[in-house]
Amino acid sequence: MARTVGRATGKAILAGEHFVVHGVPALAVPAPGGVVEVELDEAGAGQAPAGHVRACLEVLHRQCGGPAPDTLSVRVRSSLPPGAGLGSSAALSVALGRAWAARTGRPGNDDELRAVSLACERIAHGNPSGIDTEVALTGRALRFVRGAPPRSVAVAEGLGLVVVDTGAARSTRTMVEEVERRRAADPAAFQRRGTQTRELVEAMEGALATGDLPTLGAAFDAAQRVLVEIGVSTPEIDRAVAALRRAGATGAKLTGKGGGGAVIGPCRAADLDAVIGQLQAAGWRVALAGALTSAERERGR
Ligand code: MEV
Repeated sequence: MARTVGRATGKAILAGEHFVVHGVPALAVPAPGGVVEVELDEAGAGQAPAGHVRACLEVLHRQCGGPAPDTLSVRVRSSLPPGAGLGSSAALSVALGRAWAARTGRPGNDDELRAVSLACERIAHGNPSGIDTEVALTGRALRFVRGAPPRSVAVAEGLGLVVVDTGAARSTRTMVEEVERRRAADPAAFQRRGTQTRELVEAMEGALATGDLPTLGAAFDAAQRVLVEIGVSTPEIDRAVAALRRAGATGAKLTGKGGGGAVIGPCRAADLDAVIGQLQAAGWRVALAGALTSAERERGR
């Protein structure tokens, strides 16, 4: 059979990572220009499936029928740094599911594709909240509560987001387990921080809708302080946060699991090039940058 293609977007969590695993709301946007595209073809036409790609194909084969993974080859193209907290694994599983559906007719709808992606995420992460899968499926900015249908979020024109990659991150599974240990050791403190995070999600949602960049930046900074308190920041992340603010972002925070990986900061879309230039001149790797949007757009660097 001919080559089939699937694609899906990564995400940047603006507030609520880790707490969302425990039922607190979170806010996520499509990672600007952060897309995974996969091609499935007959064995021999490209790379034999290996690693997490192979594990996802086995889930698809088991849950949806269709060809055995060994009869296929796979090519993956991604503008998302892998394992950096930008939802690359969920985007990969959704893109593979779409390429599989183009071959076999299944997954036949978003519910089936969601179930496949969550099964893949459980292999990679153990206890996923589902937020990454939901952004990959919809390509939309979402307010997400575990176990409930997500709500689309309005984003005013003119806002930009810069994503710096601080390099090697620890696994999502490790980070989620460490936060769980911390929560179990002091549930009251974790609950207080969860309440703070809930308030930050509300503040950010309002600021996104009205384009209120100072409030958005202040909420990023407050969210970062909470993430430092639960132990998921690193000295390199702290340095990147400071660098983003020096370069003109109105606030900055890690995004996703932490322990390394991506740090994000908002700015005016019109200032994106200036902020990126300053960061690069200071030696930072800008992984992605573009307009903050309510729905995925093909942009990025
Ligand atoms: C990972 O992108 C975000 C976490 O909150 C885990 C999850 O929600 O599954 C750390």
